[in-house]
Amino acid sequence: MSSETLDRGLVLEAVRVTEIAAIAAWKLAGRGDEKAADQAAVDAMRTALNDLDIQGEIVIGEGERDEAPMLYIGEKVGTGKVPAIDIALDPLEGTTLTAKAMANALAVMAWAPKGTLLNAPDTYMDKIACGPGYPAGVIDLDASPADNVKALAKAKGVDPSEITVCVLDRPRHADIMASLRSVGARVHLITDGDVAGVINTADPETGIDMYVGSGGAPEGVLACAALKCVGGQFQGRLVFRNADERARAERCGITDLDKKYDLHEMVRADAIFAATGVTKGALLDGVRMSGGFVHTHTLVMNSATRTVREVRMKRPV
Ligand code: FBP
Repeated sequence: MSSETLDRGLVLEAVRVTEIAAIAAWKLAGRGDEKAADQAAVDAMRTALNDLDIQGEIVIGEGERDEAPMLYIGEKVGTGKVPAIDIALDPLEGTTLTAKAMANALAVMAWAPKGTLLNAPDTYMDKIACGPGYPAGVIDLDASPADNVKALAKAKGVDPSEITVCVLDRPRHADIMASLRSVGARVHLITDGDVAGVINTADPETGIDMYVGSGGAPEGVLACAALKCVGGQFQGRLVFRNADERARAERCGITDLDKKYDLHEMVRADAIFAATGVTKGALLDGVRMSGGFVHTHTLVMNSATRTVREVRMKRPV
């Protein structure tokens, strides 16, 4: 396993890649066609990656090779020159949000030295996250949501009723919501997009203290790469609904199917994380067209330097 860090010059290259994907997806925002929006983002991101002088390998992508012709797990991208990079990506995080022109859709990508990102299968993952500044282990996936709220409230020095928890609005989360509300926590529901849901725990402006619930495992790795840059805690455990999903994990090289991962086991070296807003959201503004220019808003972070940048791009259409 490599422990080297990526050249900081790659930070701007990463921005270009998510910008291009976001613009491509945004052109299809509100058209009611999730697949077309996703495909546009995938095409654009893949073209941009293949222009780069990297030896990239997709470890979190659009799916396995037989189900995703582009940006599939294991696909090599870039010109083949070093550095060798593990790539986790979601060209369109929030396909439904985009199809319905709803807030918070993102184009997202993380890079880390080869061999350092968890090769997560396309299954669900139980997740819990909080922002930086708390003692290690303050949240625990194996504790009840209510107990996690109480622990976080104690560490923050507030009453549990002052804790806000972000949860994906799904029937499967009914018990979690009940547990959170039983101690008076505020439950902030989102319809989609748990990468942003997790990242928001690290931004006091959002008012979100904790994220809990199950969502995509690939999105879990992307969220961990982001938290690695800004601090915060994350735990995740893969969820399998059937034998096929267990087989997917095994094909990813995972032997302990019940393992509880923490952030640094999912992203084992310094990472670069970039996200460009497709539609306007709490984290980022969306793509905007005005006066013959296209505008984008990107968050890009490098855990090696703990640098967080917001990049606004403007270019002629
Ligand atoms: P897509 O962009 O692939 O539609 O994913 C959106 C998302 O909300 C993720 O952020 C989340 O991890 C996952 O879907 C949750 O899955 P489900 O919709 O099946 O609950």
